[in-house]
Amino acid sequence: MSGFQSPRGLRDIREPDASAFAWAEEHAWSAALAAGYARIQLPVAEDSALFERAIGGTSDVVTKELYRLAVRSEESTPLALRPEVTAGVVRAYLQHGMRSEPQPVRLVTVAELFRHDRPQKGRYRQFTQFDIEAIGDAGSGIDIEVIELGTAYLRSVGLRDIEVHLNSVGCPTCRPGYLVVLAKHFAAVADRLSPVDQARLEENPLRLLDSKDEVAVAHAKGAPRFVEHLCADCAEHDRAVREGLSITGVTVVDAPHLVRGLDYYTKTAWEFLLPGEQGQQGALGGGGRYDGLVELLGGPATPGVGFAIGIDRVVLALQERGLAPAPQRPPAVVVCGIEPGSVGMRIAIASELRAAGVSARADVSTRKIGKQLESAVRDTAIAVIIVEPDGSLSLRDLAAGSQAEPGARAMVVSAAAQLARTQGGQ
Ligand code: HAM
Repeated sequence: MSGFQSPRGLRDIREPDASAFAWAEEHAWSAALAAGYARIQLPVAEDSALFERAIGGTSDVVTKELYRLAVRSEESTPLALRPEVTAGVVRAYLQHGMRSEPQPVRLVTVAELFRHDRPQKGRYRQFTQFDIEAIGDAGSGIDIEVIELGTAYLRSVGLRDIEVHLNSVGCPTCRPGYLVVLAKHFAAVADRLSPVDQARLEENPLRLLDSKDEVAVAHAKGAPRFVEHLCADCAEHDRAVREGLSITGVTVVDAPHLVRGLDYYTKTAWEFLLPGEQGQQGALGGGGRYDGLVELLGGPATPGVGFAIGIDRVVLALQERGLAPAPQRPPAVVVCGIEPGSVGMRIAIASELRAAGVSARADVSTRKIGKQLESAVRDTAIAVIIVEPDGSLSLRDLAAGSQAEPGARAMVVSAAAQLARTQGGQ
């Protein structure tokens, strides 16, 4: 073993995890594509200022967790590895003039992200999100569409008891009033709050609802609820979202103190939670409306809504419930040969089988045929083709333990393909 290890919090994903990841990601793409979302792939790094402005200068994601890259020369812009997708999608929306396309612009990506967080179960420094964004529609209908889509995805992978914890975090009209009553509520315990929470009380009291500190957590229980301080527009939006969701069959749990860790949210905010899970691990995803973000990033006032679901946590939940898919099975057909000189032909036959849609590999070794067969059996192959010294082929059915007389190539290859198909190898 070399002395090198993967950096703390950055993991190698091997089988059986790798198959479960790929499966969860493929389901994500297809769920969104089937609903009319267009693929987008974004760079892994952006201007640091984009994240600072979009996510908020006081959020943990920016103050503690951003991976900032070294500046390479005086004229280059400071870059950071992306800690989330939304800011980059909005940057791309503006950069490529997507405003002139039919609105809302519906986009989907599956992306690797980086947060310099304290690694623990379900929390990594590199992780993957399934992210959906719909930009350019202020109506409650698109909120309902997006929340239903995320719920349906989680149910489709097997997490049927998923709950949507929903709140409204208001808008610039009603938020200042709520912040005043919230600050007043926490002011009663100001001297007992941790120094970090005292700063939050000054700068952004909403963050106190998200604090992990004992005093803030205890006092948050009796905190005023945002829903009781919403302006008429936000209240009507919230009512319509809840009513629509009840018709779609999504399980909504009222979460009057849910605030998200990113600053751009307005109106609808939610998390996809697995009941009964401890701590962060149960938070499979979250999202919300961000009606001020496009403007904040230099564009015209444009509403938006979206979510991100953590693929790592989805895989963890599936594995803990015994629902993770089986790893990719090894090739159904193995092509062996008696003579060392037949390796090229073995490879050509395996390739021909794959082109016909049957998984196959050649044994490329010069080992004795007995050893080649042992390894095919170990690999749980369904059939073995043996290249005989005269170039004819024999077909061995491993389940039946039978071997046919050598025959011509086309005939044996097609019989092997048939055997693989009937025995469910494909
Ligand atoms: P977020 O709540 O920061 O939202 O992250 C969404 C999900 O990503 C979490 O619920 C979790 O499953 C996963 N996640 C976050 N951090 C980690 C980590 N360190 N390790 C493993 N998984 C993690 C956002 O990122 C928003 N951009 C979502 C959004 C999209 N809002 C509107 N559009």
